Amino acid sequence: METVHVNASRSYDIKICKGILSSVGREVSSLLPKTKRVAVISDDKVFPLYGERVTKSLSDSGFDTVSYVFPNGEHSKNTDTLVNILNFLGTNGLTRSDCLIALGGGVVGDITGFAAAVFLRGIHFVQIPTTLLAMVDSSVGGKTAVNLDCGKNLAGAFYQPELVLCDTDVLSSLSHEDYADGCAEIIKYAMIKDKELFDFISQKHICEDHEYVIRTCISIKARIVENDEFDNGERQLLNFGHTIGHAVEKCSNYSIHHGSAVAIGMVMMSKGAYLAGLCDKDYSPALIPLLKKYSLPTAAEYTPAQLYNVTLSDKKRSGADITLVLPQEIGKCILKKLPAQEVLNILEKGS
Ligand code: GLY
Repeated sequence: METVHVNASRSYDIKICKGILSSVGREVSSLLPKTKRVAVISDDKVFPLYGERVTKSLSDSGFDTVSYVFPNGEHSKNTDTLVNILNFLGTNGLTRSDCLIALGGGVVGDITGFAAAVFLRGIHFVQIPTTLLAMVDSSVGGKTAVNLDCGKNLAGAFYQPELVLCDTDVLSSLSHEDYADGCAEIIKYAMIKDKELFDFISQKHICEDHEYVIRTCISIKARIVENDEFDNGERQLLNFGHTIGHAVEKCSNYSIHHGSAVAIGMVMMSKGAYLAGLCDKDYSPALIPLLKKYSLPTAAEYTPAQLYNVTLSDKKRSGADITLVLPQEIGKCILKKLPAQEVLNILEKGS
């Protein structure tokens, strides 16, 4: 088992281990000895696969267990689902000493975390991510949210989990596309902070050592979150490829997966920033073969003007300026605040 510790406003462990799903009950009871009832929140793709294993483990450890399952997908990440979960918790009499478990990918983790933050003004919360993307990114760091009609992740809270359990066995049930989504975020971590990881995933395949790769990514994220939990500075490095990536996702009406969009965003940013004179070297020739190796796209069919218009409405823009993540070398990126119209120049040059 690999364990990474996070020391943010709340301190917690992230445990990475094959087969840990069957020990959820033991893990939760040693963490939360006063908890009697646990609500497992999941979706209708994940719960049929792993719900019984998790709820049995909880019941065997003496927990009174209830489950709430909603339809899989981004379209469920809204205030209706949130309110339904809150009503379910209230109807089932959960108290502040009880616990919510998110069993699923990023949507389940984000919405369950937000429900945990607001139900009774905060109850215990454990993440069990079941996608590679959620393991290396969204389950750690305490960003929780739902989408509003006017945009993605616009209502949420910073609310750290108390434990994160990553069972690498579940990765074998992911579709090729879902697996590739996680690979894009892993390549992002390698680009922003870790040349050794970049070399490892270039020479070998991520699936050859999931525990090492996940532990390395989570350790990078843990240190960043410890330095900047509330996303005012260094944490924005995690957005490498995301500003353009979000625009690609929106232009495609979310038919392009998050990881694919981020892959395209990383290439356009690397090439465009170099040609715009913002970096000394073009890193896209190093990135493109690595992204292709993990079945990720490296270009989009949208025009720079289409992407720019969507970027301008992105919530990450503050005033007239936008903070961009620019590569300086493999394993090192920097943040640069630039006038928002500079993004159009980068998009035109990076296309
Ligand atoms: N997913 C980026 C962050 O947690 O800040």
